[in-house]
This record gives sequence, structure tokens and C-alpha cells, in this order.
Amino acid sequence: MEMRRLGSSGIGVTAVGLGTWAIGGGPWWGTTNDEQSIRAIHASLDAGINLIDTAPAYGFGHSERIVGRAIRDRRDRVVLATKCGLWWKDGTGSVFFEQSGKTVRRSLDPRTIRIEVEESLRRLGTDRIDLMQTHWQATPDAPTPIADTMACLTQLRAEGKIRAIGVSNATPAQMDEYRAAGDLAACQPRYSMLDRKIEADVLPYCRDQGIAALVYSPLEQGLLTGKIGMDRQFSPEAARNMIPWFRPGNRHRVLDMLARWDDLCEKHACSLAQLVIAWTVAQPGVTCALCGARKPEDAEENAGAGAVHLGPEDAARMRADVEALGEPAA
Ligand SMILES: NC(=O)c1ccc[n+]([C@@H]2O[C@H](COP(=O)([O-])OP(=O)(O)OC[C@H]3O[C@@H](n4cnc5c(N)ncnc54)[C@H](OP(=O)(O)O)[C@@H]3O)[C@@H](O)[C@H]2O)c1
Repeated sequence: MEMRRLGSSGIGVTAVGLGTWAIGGGPWWGTTNDEQSIRAIHASLDAGINLIDTAPAYGFGHSERIVGRAIRDRRDRVVLATKCGLWWKDGTGSVFFEQSGKTVRRSLDPRTIRIEVEESLRRLGTDRIDLMQTHWQATPDAPTPIADTMACLTQLRAEGKIRAIGVSNATPAQMDEYRAAGDLAACQPRYSMLDRKIEADVLPYCRDQGIAALVYSPLEQGLLTGKIGMDRQFSPEAARNMIPWFRPGNRHRVLDMLARWDDLCEKHACSLAQLVIAWTVAQPGVTCALCGARKPEDAEENAGAGAVHLGPEDAARMRADVEALGEPAA
């Protein structure tokens, strides 16, 4: 598995990482099997992945607890990334969403960050988080200055509780502010071959500034594996219902496109999921594809993409096909 640099942190991460949002379960992802999730985490590590991404908000602590259980006896093999900034313990911050009777707010206030870090360390069963990322950025109605957030994270690093600092869902202008106030190692934006908006700004910025880009939802929540057929339905609250590509007419177009790549899968002796992940991590500026998995076989398959190397011609053909798809119909 190819190793890449986590910005200027000195930490090396694999080009394919494991995302654990679905492992948290809850209304977005439905019922989840914890023992199977633990086996999926072990399968990822055994297949060569070292980066595991989680967050307190994934199942209100559940994902972090499961990750903690899974890595208890193998902590040294893991670059452990979690997040702060989604807060549901009191009224601090701006309201973001309601779920399972909780009001989740965006807060990057140093007071709430400190509490979150202590709780994450406890749930993860570790004394140090390798990468702490601000999950969503502050809004004008709860405007913690980025300099204050960064000062808090820098202090936590000096105390040895975190090793490197990252942001998620941040613009280049916000990253400029973080960089002016401290060392920013990484950012975590949304990116897949069906959602390439960050090619216009975030990816060139990361490349120019030496910031690692750990991209999320690279498989469009499983759609790009080709395994979610036209008949599959999701509950009204499912995260997939928020993605326009899952609507029947749009889904059909994606599945047709994927079906035309059979020859590429044969040529590279890989599955569609692996082909798509290999394309994603080959894009300029992308450091790592954070692929979600909660079944051991999916985790192993996704990690296997680290061994697939597309030539420029095949990558260009895939780009031409996704560009021809255009935008999903409303
Ligand atoms: N910073 C943020 O705001 C943010 C937002 C979203 C995600 N993330 C991070 O990025 C990670 C990845 O994103 P994501 O989970 O949204 O989407 P994803 O990686 O595009 O898709 C994950 C889902 O696709 C299905 N899947 C994955 N590999 C498969 C395979 N080989 N075969 C069949 N199905 C497969 C699984 O669904 P089932 O489990 O249902 O089978 C899996 O849970 C998250 O886990 C999280 O760590 C961060």
C-alpha cells in the first residue's frame, strides 16, 4: 500500500483509509452489527491500511467506542483521526441538526473542544489522538475566531493529547486563517468522481500549501461499487436519501456508466469499487480516500485498491465518462 505524507506532521498515512461513520449506526445508517464492525476494522488493518477516521458525532460516541475496542491491542498500527466541533451537551454553538432527541450544534469554542478531546480519548481508549480535525466550521451566529480554535488545538498538541491538526469542510480562506495561527496538516473535504467541486479550489490549495487532503464519501456511499441496484430502497432518514445520485433516474445513469467499465476491471484484475478508489487516489492533490466500511469483506476489498494503479489513459477515459454524466437531475 502506497504511503503518503500527512502534510508537514511527519506522519505517514496509507493512500486508502478506513472511515467509520456507518459503524456509528443511527438513523443515517440504520442497524449496525458491532462485532462485524470490529472485524471490518481488523480486516482493514490486516490488509495494510493505517488511517482510521472517526468522530464523536458518529452515533453519538458509538463509532469512537467501537474503534477503541477494535484497536485496543493494536494501537501502534493505527494513525487515529477523530474530530471536534459538533456539540450536543448544552446550548453552546449554532444549531446544525436534530437527531435521536438531541440538538447538535456547531461549536469550535475552546471550552467545548477541551471537553470533547477528553471524552474522545476515553472512548477511544488511548492517551493520544494522531489527527484532530474540526468537523464543521463555525457560523456567524456562533463565531469563535479561528485563531482561538487553533490556539486551543496547538495547546492540546503541546500537552501531547493530539499529534496533528486538521480541518474538515473548510474553504481555502478558512484554511488561510488556520495556517496564520498554527500548523495545519490536513483537510477533509467531500470528493468522489461524481462530486468533483473541490477540484476548483480546495485540491489545488492543498497541493500548493502542502496540506494533506483526506477525501470523504469517495464511493458515494456505496453507489460507485455498482452493488446498489435499482431495486434497493432506503429508509426516509437514511444518509443516502440526501444524495441526488441515488434517485432512480440518476442512479440508472451511474449504473450504466459503471457497467461500461467491465473491461477496465478485467484489465486491472480488480472490482469496480477498487477501480473507483484507485482513480480517486490518483487525482492531483488527493492524499487519501477515506472509504467507509462496516463489513470485513468490504474493508478488505477497499484496501485492495491500494495495489491498483491506473495508467493515465484509463484514468482519462473514466474522467471523460463521469464528465459526460453531467449533474444529477433534481
Ligand atoms: N468530515 C465529514 O463531514 C464527513 C462526512 C461524511 C463522511 N466522512 C468520513 O468519510 C468516511 C467515508 O465516507 P462515507 O462513509 O460517507 O461514504 P463511502 O466511503 O463513499 O461509502 C461507505 C459505504 O458504502 C458501502 N461500501 C463501501 N465499500 C463497499 C464495498 N467494497 N462493497 C459494497 N459496499 C461498500 C458501505 O455501505 P453499507 O455499510 O451500508 O453496506 C459503506 O458503509 C466516513 O466513514 C467518515 O469517516 C466525513
